[in-house]
Amino acid sequence: MEPFAYRGGEMHAESVPLSRIAREVGTPAYVYSLARLRENYRAFVDAIDGMDAEVHYAMKANSNQAVIRAFGVMGAGADIVSEGEMRRALAAGVPASRIVFSGVGKKPSELRVAVEAGLQQINVESRAELDMLDAVARAAGKVVDIAIRVNPDVDAGTHAKITTGRKENKFGIDIDLAPEAYAHAATLPNLRPIGVAMHIGSQIVNLEPYRQAIRRMRELVGTLRAAGHAIDRFDVGGGLGISYRDEVPLPIAGFMAMVREETGNLGCRLSFEPGRRLVGDAGVLIGEVVVVKPGVARTFVVVDAAMNDLIRPTLYEAWHDILPAREPVGNVAKIVTDIVGPICESGDFLAQKRDMPPLAAGDLVVVKSAGAYGATMASTYNTRPLVPEVLVDGDRYAVVRPRQTYDELLGADRVPAWLE
Ligand code: LLP
Repeated sequence: MEPFAYRGGEMHAESVPLSRIAREVGTPAYVYSLARLRENYRAFVDAIDGMDAEVHYAMKANSNQAVIRAFGVMGAGADIVSEGEMRRALAAGVPASRIVFSGVGKKPSELRVAVEAGLQQINVESRAELDMLDAVARAAGKVVDIAIRVNPDVDAGTHAKITTGRKENKFGIDIDLAPEAYAHAATLPNLRPIGVAMHIGSQIVNLEPYRQAIRRMRELVGTLRAAGHAIDRFDVGGGLGISYRDEVPLPIAGFMAMVREETGNLGCRLSFEPGRRLVGDAGVLIGEVVVVKPGVARTFVVVDAAMNDLIRPTLYEAWHDILPAREPVGNVAKIVTDIVGPICESGDFLAQKRDMPPLAAGDLVVVKSAGAYGATMASTYNTRPLVPEVLVDGDRYAVVRPRQTYDELLGADRVPAWLE
């Protein structure tokens, strides 16, 4: 069942009208569908059936603990990139033994807590980090399982700001330098280099870049084994795209069939780190129209949701479908509309030059596919409180993060007594 759809003329999240959530929780608000989260995770579980593989949810896409818990109870691990994410994953009940720590600039303090927590694996991204982690592990009296994140130099064919696997990107160790990095790692007594890792970008809808990258990694595994390294894990990363507009996402089963074909006899346990694909289409952002300004060139619809709540449109020129919560009746003429927020920046828009049915103050609008990199990238710019997150399950819902209060927001500042 499509979780976000018009039923009886009203946009619902599963069986709950969004207008009810708007009334009871206020706007703006993020609304997630538990059924869709589960369905998305199950698609991965079904597709890896029979493979020696596991899924680590890339929680940067949506790190609400209710969301992490939903996947955790289904068996997911977590892919984390900071101490904060580690704390959240553990708080949400994901055991340390199912947490992988990625990230291009981990600090010694973060590595220390990761080593102490006994995480499953740390994906190391530089030679300096190898030395740093070895020192941290030695001080803790532990030997740590690591993979080296390798940059396979492929073009994932996605937006420049979310492509990560090319030589000019800051991520990982260049594939040509990888053998030397493994040789160095092998000399460090408190590291156990057991795997290779890659992540070539995000919102990828083509199979070929993955295939190319996997082939290069496969060759690397051969080289490393020939040099005496016992490599038996391959972290394939995340990046599978969704349909925001007219993109055709890769079917998970087809993707896994390719992975199986390319890694069949490699003898590595595989790990996948999907973020967006698990949560993106499972969430919407709802907002209310504040004012409509008919203009000469186009009409501006100012809503109470803004770039601080959802930054993707302005940061990546990203398209999000926007629909009125009340289904338009009959054949209404569409108007070329900019849907904008109240923030004092021209970059504060959710959509530009969009054909929309006429909207009026008080109408509710629904920004689709906002479950990934929505709430997690929000800020309080313009002193706008972080918006609530709501989880719907059938005909019930729970506020899984209340709206930040002004007391919480203002109370975080400290004014020194000497500022008289
Ligand atoms: N693993 C690693 C090491 C990553 O860096 C990422 C995402 C993922 C997994 C998950 O990628 P996904 O499956 O979600 O594509 N804020 C951007 C996306 C940034 C992705 C960063 N890394 C956006 O809103 O499009």
